[in-house]
Parts: sequence; C-alpha cells; structure tokens
Amino acid sequence: MARFHLLSLLSIASLARALVLHPDLPSLLSDDDDETPLPLVIWHGLGDNYAADGLKEVGEIAQETNPGTYVYNVRLDEDPSADRSATFLGNLTLQVEKVCADLAKDPILSTAPAIDALGFSQGGQFLRAYVERCNNPPVRSLVTFGSQHNGISEFQTCGATDWLCKGAQALLRGNTWSTFVQSRFVPAQYFRDPMQYDQYLENSNFLADINNERILKNKTYKENMEKLENFVMYIFEDDTTVIPKETGWFSEVNGTDVIPLVERDMYKEDWLGLKTLDKKGALKFKSTKGNHMALTDKLLGSVFKEVYGPMKKGSSLKSQRPDALASYEKQLEILEEKNKAALLKAFKEAGVAGSAEDGLDAALAKEREERKQRILTEQARNFAARVQREHGPKQEEL
Ligand SMILES: *[C@@H]1O[C@H](CO)[C@@H](O)[C@H](O)[C@H]1NC(C)=O
Ligand SMILES: *[C@@H]1O[C@H](CO)[C@@H](O)[C@H](O)[C@H]1NC(C)=O
Ligand SMILES: *[C@@H]1O[C@H](CO)[C@@H](O)[C@H](O)[C@H]1NC(C)=O
Repeated sequence: MARFHLLSLLSIASLARALVLHPDLPSLLSDDDDETPLPLVIWHGLGDNYAADGLKEVGEIAQETNPGTYVYNVRLDEDPSADRSATFLGNLTLQVEKVCADLAKDPILSTAPAIDALGFSQGGQFLRAYVERCNNPPVRSLVTFGSQHNGISEFQTCGATDWLCKGAQALLRGNTWSTFVQSRFVPAQYFRDPMQYDQYLENSNFLADINNERILKNKTYKENMEKLENFVMYIFEDDTTVIPKETGWFSEVNGTDVIPLVERDMYKEDWLGLKTLDKKGALKFKSTKGNHMALTDKLLGSVFKEVYGPMKKGSSLKSQRPDALASYEKQLEILEEKNKAALLKAFKEAGVAGSAEDGLDAALAKEREERKQRILTEQARNFAARVQREHGPKQEEL
C-alpha cells in the first residue's frame, strides 16, 4: 500500500510538471522583451467543425512554430455537428455577435494584450467582421486563406452525400435577396453579383455592411481595421470552389474584367482602412498553388512564423492594454486548474481517486511555488539588467 502510494506520487509529480504548460517563463515579466506568443483564434470554413482533426493539426503547427501558443477554435455550438450545421444555416449578425461575446469572456483571450486570427475560407470574412464590429480582445495579425472578402457570384456545389449542404441550399428555391433566405442561409449573406448590385446593396444581411458599401459608412469598422499590424490575404491559384477566386484579395470580377482592390472606390476612398493598411505595409496580397484550401504544413509554418508569435517591441497594441501582461500568471493557473480537473476525473474513472488526489495537490503546490521562485529570480535579474543599462556609469561611481 505504502509502496503504491509512493509510486503514484512520483508519477503524479511528473504529471503535475507536465501540467504546467510553460515551465520556463524567462522574460515574461519584463515588459521590454516579452517572449510569450499571442493566443491564436481560428475560424474554420463551410462544412467544417471546430473539433475536426485537420484543425487540430493546424493548432499543432502553430504550437510547434511558436511554442506556448494558446489556440482557440471558434465554435457556434459545443456540439461539433451543430457547429458544422451553423456554417450553412444561421443569421451572420447573430453568429458574429456570439463569437464576440465568447472571445470577450474567455479568461485567457480576454486578458491577453492582443490576439492573432486565422480564417479559413468564409471564416476569414467572419473574423474580419469580428475585427470591425468588436475587436475586443484586439487582433494583431489577421490571416485569411481562400476567403470571400468581396463575396461570391456563384454558390459552391455540395458534395454528393452532403445532405446538410443540399438541405441548406434548398432554401435557395426562394429568392436569394428575400429576408427569409438572408436570415437563414449563410453563403447567401456574402453573395455578391455585380450584375445584381442594387439588390445586393439593399438586401445583403452581411457583406454589404461589413464592406462599408452603403452610403452611410461605419467609422468604427475603418478605425478597427486600421489597428491591424498585418492583414495577410492568401488566394489559391487554381481555386475552382470559390467563384471568383480573386474575391480573396477584394478584387471585383464583373464578368469580363478583374478589377483589383487598388482601382476600386473601396480602396481609393478608404471605406475600410485598407488603403491606410497598405500605406503602412500591413496589407499583403499572397497566393499559393493548388485548389481551394490546398494548404501545406510548410506554408502554414512560414506564415505563423512571420506574423504570429510574441508581440514585437513598441507595438501600439501593447500600450492599449498595458496591464494585460500582468495577468499571464492568472491565465496559467486557469489552464492548470482545467487540466487538473480533467486529470482528477480520469483518476476517479480509474478508481485511484483518494490518495492520488492528495498527491496531485501537493505536487501542484510545489510546482507552483518553484515557478514563483523562478519568476522572482528572473524579475530581479531583469531589474538589475535594466538598472545596469540605464544607470551603468553611475553605478561604477558608487
Ligand atoms: C458601427 O459599428 C459599431 C460596432 O459594431 C456599432 O456599435 C455602431 O452602432 C455602428 N454605427 C452605425 C452608425 O451603424
Ligand atoms: C439577423 O438578425 C439581426 C439581429 O437580430 C436582425 O436585426 C436582422 O434583421 C436579421 N437579418 C435578417 C435578414 O432577418
Ligand atoms: C467591367 O469593367 C471594365 C473595366 O472597368 C469595363 O470596361 C467593362 O465594361 C465592365 N464590364 C461590365 C460587364 O460591366
């Protein structure tokens, strides 16, 4: 019995160590050179769900590229199949509102100095809507792959056995521009055919608004977009799913010509701050080979390395949320508690709850104390280094 207890204590101690997600918190407390990567929020595309394996792999690449990244997959429902359903059906005004509320109340995201955002396909324009309408927590880098920023002029075809897709598209037996369809069928809310421009302006429940195409422009949308440090837009060179594919760069395809963003009033009159972003080098038009969503780990890794990760020195976003870094310790503890709860549940199921629980608490307390000591030491070292930097010669005089 005693031996069992000791053994389980040992393995619990190593588990507890693994539980503490960031064992090394070197320069965390020095505001000057913070190495903590910003959290990453991912919004998946049509027909996908937040718990899909593919999305998990993307999260893993984010963590390999910038170790310690907290990844959050946007969901409209905790049930993955209901979440998938919401990619086809729903009122986007309400969907974006829900995501705004979810991100604002997430204990980790809401205390970060800023977040990064990654949108796949329609998730890209939805995250842009998040930036324009809410941006709390604020987005530092927004990356979109194969998104439909300027809408679609044809609905995508459903897979042969995708009954949900087919069922949702059956709504289109009604008029695309009817309130009935605009409040229910998600892709209809970013349908934009230049040949039906007046109907679009009058009835679009989503895109005409977030693109600030109506006479009354929303200044908040523009101001929020201008706060982005990077807005990277990828299109797929051989995309046959998104029509037209150039929509991923805000180009207008009018049947005969492809009119690039820079030649459009939207840019020239800067309805959305895209011109401002372009002038400061923050707007990036990128393309990659292959059909819709033909992503490689290598491409993702290189993008994540370039525009995600720790916040750079002197970032204007940082000064907007000066107290955010201080809450990092708290965030870690929340994560730790969550993992601990899951582990205790597993112990209970394995029938080793009693002694294991005590051991876990003791091991966690020890680990936490050690971490606090490490942080204090690091803090003292940083402080000494700063004093040395700022008052170096004077110190020698002393
Ligand atoms: C502009 O958008 C903001 C954020 O969504 C909203 O609070 C505000 O009411 C909008 N203003 C107008 C004039 O529609
Ligand atoms: C979508 O929901 C919003 C908020 O409830 C509502 O104002 C809007 O009219 C709805 N859209 C349509 C097309 O019914
Ligand atoms: C498309 O745009 C081009 C360039 O602005 C213009 O010359 C052409 O007439 C337009 N085509 C249609 C069908 O509107």
